Amino acid sequence: MALAIKVLKYLLLVHISLTFYTNEVSSASHVTPPSSRAKVSPRLVAVQGMVYCKSCKYSGIDTLVGASPLQGATVRLACNITKRSSVTMETKTDKNGYFFMLAPKTLTTKAVHTCRAWPMNTKPASETMRTITRPAPATTACTVLTQLNNGTTGAILKPSKTINIGEHDYVLFSAGPFAFEPVCKH
Ligand SMILES: *[C@@H]1O[C@H](CO)[C@@H](O)[C@H](O)[C@H]1NC(C)=O
Ligand SMILES: *[C@@H]1O[C@H](CO)[C@@H](O)[C@H](O)[C@H]1NC(C)=O
Repeated sequence: MALAIKVLKYLLLVHISLTFYTNEVSSASHVTPPSSRAKVSPRLVAVQGMVYCKSCKYSGIDTLVGASPLQGATVRLACNITKRSSVTMETKTDKNGYFFMLAPKTLTTKAVHTCRAWPMNTKPASETMRTITRPAPATTACTVLTQLNNGTTGAILKPSKTINIGEHDYVLFSAGPFAFEPVCKH
């Protein structure tokens, strides 16, 4: 639900910015040579994705069948922009297992290929769905990070669309979905 609202918000922002953009172009078209518009400058980077807790039933298997969103998982973004300049940032998943971050302005789409994103192997807060539906025994703590979508080695970022936030164009990239596993007894 919150994810849907977020997406709607961004769509609205994109729509508003497109409207402004169109106005701007039509009023300034006689001054701005068309070629300068075509030269798209590197844009800023936003990253989103999901983190799940897998079902014990599928422990060791790369599937999200029966998985539930994992709240409070820390996801790190790291980029080696140049030899001397790097970016590292972290965020936590919300109650829907969703993470979203705006990378610092030192990172543009030009260097996004140097980035990797992955969940940190620290204790996530809780496994929301399960704790709601039934009391969680200690064994369901979702603490084992899996390699699903390069979760342990770091995932490359895939571009999805352009969004506009506070007058800046961002390209929204996706990573994951990632998954942790509970410590499962077999
Ligand atoms: C950045 O460079 C360091 C040192 O070479 C390396 O250990 C690290 O994995 C690199 N990070 C990314 C995201 O490629
Ligand atoms: C996962 O890692 C492999 C091996 O490094 C790489 O070829 C592949 O592109 C990566 N995929 C993602 C989504 O990160």
